[in-house]
Amino acid sequence: MIMKITITGSLGKISKPLAEILIKNANDVTIISNDPKKAKEIESLGAKAAIGSVADIRFLTQAFQGADAAYTMVPPNWKVPDYRKYIAQIGENYLQAIQASGVKRVVNLSSIGAHLSGGTGPIAGLYDVEQILNTLDNVDIKYLRPGLFYVNFFFDIGTIRKIGVMGNNYSGKTKLLMTHPRDIAAAAAQELQGSFKGKSHRYVVSDERDVAEVARILGTSIGNPELPWVQFSDDDTFAGMKAAGMSEAIAKVYVEMGRAIDSEILFEDFHRQEKFDWGSTKLTDFANEFAAVYKSLK
Ligand SMILES: NC(=O)c1ccc[n+]([C@@H]2O[C@H](COP(=O)([O-])OP(=O)(O)OC[C@H]3O[C@@H](n4cnc5c(N)ncnc54)[C@H](OP(=O)(O)O)[C@@H]3O)[C@@H](O)[C@H]2O)c1
Repeated sequence: MIMKITITGSLGKISKPLAEILIKNANDVTIISNDPKKAKEIESLGAKAAIGSVADIRFLTQAFQGADAAYTMVPPNWKVPDYRKYIAQIGENYLQAIQASGVKRVVNLSSIGAHLSGGTGPIAGLYDVEQILNTLDNVDIKYLRPGLFYVNFFFDIGTIRKIGVMGNNYSGKTKLLMTHPRDIAAAAAQELQGSFKGKSHRYVVSDERDVAEVARILGTSIGNPELPWVQFSDDDTFAGMKAAGMSEAIAKVYVEMGRAIDSEILFEDFHRQEKFDWGSTKLTDFANEFAAVYKSLK
């Protein structure tokens, strides 16, 4: 069945491959971007461009009007003074726009760890969004809960070049659940075009490795198989993030997320599942992308 689908997230890491799948399947797709310069590229994909901000409820309502389904996500914004509040506010905006437009089917990008109400850094905001959207009556919602994006490791390239290590405030023994955005796009497309009912979540995870192994695999891809993982203190992690240009408020939130990763509480609900279909893009596949970006940033 051909559907009218509105997706947020512009031509971002998930939304672009998601739009490509939906368009290939002959759906009528509208893509929301906050940048008028993106309209041409969006149209050249075969979608309609809706230019405006997720901060604008009236705009969102118009963009959702008449859609059979919507994909909602919260764009990263590291300029805000209170990240949790910002994320929850965008969730509120989606609630209002979904109600006013009458969309009945939503796939919302959440995160692994969103079963926890706090102590998880930015993920606590996505917990809030799930709670806010759960108050919608007669709207079917699928919350996608991906693992940590492989692409986050691009942020390590500076440290690798400068001091020859990868690191964060969690130990090399920590087992990470990770996901490629492409696998999230595939899951989102499947759910948008599928037949779920009610409110439920779906984990989207592509690989699980301990962090020392992550360093070895990514190190090997750049000709350094001995690349070590170093656990930094919370204070050093905070200082490093600030030195890299992050605001104090955002660095604080990410240090908290690192602590939640170290304790593995983020992953406990995922491990309660008896059966799971893993995403197809493994860390070893991503290693090629990592090596290409590492080289290009010389
Ligand atoms: N990183 C992780 O490990 C992780 C794990 C779990 C969940 N997540 C979730 O994933 C999200 C990121 O998803 P993604 O990687 O697909 O996003 P992305 O690649 O960062 O793309 C988001 C796009 O949204 C658009 N945008 C920014 N501000 C906007 C605004 N005010 N109104 C409308 N559009 C706006 C931007 O495009 P334009 O310039 O064209 O507007 C931007 O490219 C995070 O925010 C988080 O909620 C992340």
